[in-house]
Formats: sequence, structure tokens, C-alpha cells
Amino acid sequence: MRLLVTGGAGFIGSNFVQQTVRERPDHQVTVLDALTYAGNRSSLDPVADAIEFVHGSIADAELVDRLVGECDVVVNFAAESHNDNSLAEPEPFLQTNLVGTYRLLEAVRHHSVRMHHVSTDEVFGDLELDDPKKFTEDTPYRPSSPYSSTKAGADLLVRAWVRSFGLAATISNCSNNYGPYQHVEKFIPRQVTNVLSGVKPKVYGTGANVRDWIHVDDHNRALHAVLDRGRLGETYLIGADGEADNLTVVRTILRVLGKPEDWFDFVSDRPGHDLRYAIDAGKLRTELGWTPEFADLESGLASTVQWYADHREWWEPAKHATEAAYSELGR
Ligand code: NAD
Ligand code: TYD
Repeated sequence: MRLLVTGGAGFIGSNFVQQTVRERPDHQVTVLDALTYAGNRSSLDPVADAIEFVHGSIADAELVDRLVGECDVVVNFAAESHNDNSLAEPEPFLQTNLVGTYRLLEAVRHHSVRMHHVSTDEVFGDLELDDPKKFTEDTPYRPSSPYSSTKAGADLLVRAWVRSFGLAATISNCSNNYGPYQHVEKFIPRQVTNVLSGVKPKVYGTGANVRDWIHVDDHNRALHAVLDRGRLGETYLIGADGEADNLTVVRTILRVLGKPEDWFDFVSDRPGHDLRYAIDAGKLRTELGWTPEFADLESGLASTVQWYADHREWWEPAKHATEAAYSELGR
């Protein structure tokens, strides 16, 4: 099996590549990554000898056509992925998430290979805090931000290429991931590396917003389940029943790091901030037999905190610029 993994130097992609090399020695992996601020080649160091790395963009039609022609399956992780950045500067989100996905789809159509498109639950918009409902595969799309709307648009392109051109594709929409190699701009690594730097965590608004946390290894095992046994043309929601509000997450991080649980600051809220995400992963569990291995957020967070404590050389170079950008936003 020859896999082309786009965005494989990012958070989820690099964990996917490492897991694949470890657990599937029969897979030959090529990574295509533009190495934006979010891509880090060193995230692939543990498997550097086992993979091929190509530096380039999914929006480069010629390059994408050549690489897709040399593989059996494309897994598309490449994206601009951060809501706050999308509010400050939407353009790269349209280029990569929409135009880039379109270029991949055209190459996949030309070469008749299989594609899996990695997406987010944020395409569904948000739920009320007290709503017992969760997102399912039938929830209508109602994205809130430039990030989530371009991801929604990309999903719709994939669906159109499946229906109109018979593309052999699947889509997954996953909830918020945590784990090693996540950029320090994101909530959990930002707060962990703040505390490790002697700085207080920063909580947007009231901290009541809820995210449905899943460990990145559980997400990636679900992706392999979809690649192995998923039905073509289908969408699978991925989540591990990990709902927690932001205050709970911050207090857990502080507890794990031995700080008082009130040692954080409230900062101004994100415009359009989605209240709550929650995934019903019933289809994935019953149809594909997937179950998460990380049962509780606290132990998963503890191992993630330890990883950041042990890998300062990985995150310190990005920390200063990330915090400078946040301080311009007053967050
Ligand atoms: P990330 O920002 O950490 O990584 C994105 C990677 O894509 C980086 O390596 C970057 O260099 C690369 N990239 C960006 N533009 C590119 C381009 N034009 N061509 C090639 N490579 C390009 O993101 P992530 O958190 O690893 O997310 C990966 C995917 O999973 C995204 O599609 C995201 O929407 C989706 N997703 C993320 C989460 C989450 O919690 N992080 C949850 C659900 C779904
Ligand atoms: P984030 O990691 O940006 O993911 P997403 O916006 O895709 O859910 O943020 C997760 C939650 O944490 C979200 O409710 C915003 C909040 N947040 C903070 O409270 N403080 C922060 O410094 C950041 C980056 C996020």
C-alpha cells in the first residue's frame, strides 16, 4: 500500500505517519507538506528513514498530479487549522482548504485512486451548553468561522466529486484533538507551555465553552479503521465522549503541573466563539468496531503535559512569535 499523506508534518498528520510506520510496516509513506508555520519536519524525525518527504503545496496542481499518480491512497490532513488565525487573515484558509482540496480531488479523479479527507466537527457550528443533543452524520452544516466554513466547503467538494465523478472517497469529522506535537497556538499546548514558562494560562471569555476532547492516537486509529473498512462515499464522525469545559481543562493542567487551580487569567473572548461541540460516534463504533484507548482526559492530559515538559526544544522556537501574535489580539 502506497500512502500519500498531505499535511504530514503537522500535529495530527505527523502522529498518523508515526503510528502508520510503527504499526503497518507494509505501508510505504510519502508525505507532502508545505511546511507553513504549523509544519515541523522534526515531528517526523523518529521515522525519517522510513518515509519519503516532499516539500510542496496541495494547491500545486502539477506536483499533486505527479505524487497522486504514484500512490494507491491519499489521506488529506493539509489545512490551515486555527480559528484565531482565520479571523485575523482568512485568505490562506481559502487557498489551502478550498483550492488545495480541489486540486487534490482533480488529481485523485485523474488517477482513480482512493482518498480520505480529514475534517472537523466544526463544520456543524455549535450546540447550546445545556442541549442534550450531539452531532451526528445527519447534522446540517452551519459553520461559524472562516476556518470552519472553508473546511465545510472542502467537505462539500469531496461529496460532489463522489456523486458526480464516482470518486472513491470517504470523509471523517473529528472533535478537538490533544497529544504530542500540537502547535503551541492551540488551547492545551498553549496553556501547558505557558505554565512551563512561568506564565499564567489564558482563558477566553468565561471559560464555559465545551470541547469534546480526543487523544490524537485514538483519532488516527479511527482513520485507519475508515481506510480499512469504511464504505466508499460515506462520512464518519470521530469522537471519544470527552466533553469538558475550558475551565475544567485549565484546572486539570494546573493540577497536573502542581500549581493552584485558580492560577490563570481570563482574557477577551474570540469573536463568534462556538459554545459547545459534542460528537455521537455511534456509526464509527458499531459499523467499524472502533473504540478509543484513552478512556479519560486527565490521564491523557498528564502524558501530554509530560511530553511538552520533555520536549522543550520542539516547542520553544515557536512560543515567542505565537505569544506576540496573541498579545496583538489582546488574548
Ligand atoms: P496543523 O495546523 O497542525 O497541521 C497542518 C499541516 O498542513 C502543517 O504541517 C502545514 O505545514 C500543512 N499545510 C498547510 N497548508 C498546506 C498546503 N497548502 N499544502 C501542503 N501542506 C500544507 O493541523 P492539525 O491540527 O494537524 O489538523 C490536521 C487536519 O485535521 C486539518 O485538516 C484539520 O482541519 C483537521 N482536524 C483537526 C482537529 C484538531 O483538533 N487539531 C480536529 C479535527 C480535524
Ligand atoms: P482551540 O485549541 O483554538 O480549538 P477550537 O477553536 O478549534 O475549538 O481552542 C479550544 C477552546 O479553547 C476554544 O473554546 C477556545 C479556547 N481557548 C482559550 O480559552 N484560550 C486560548 O488561549 C486558546 C488558544 C483557546
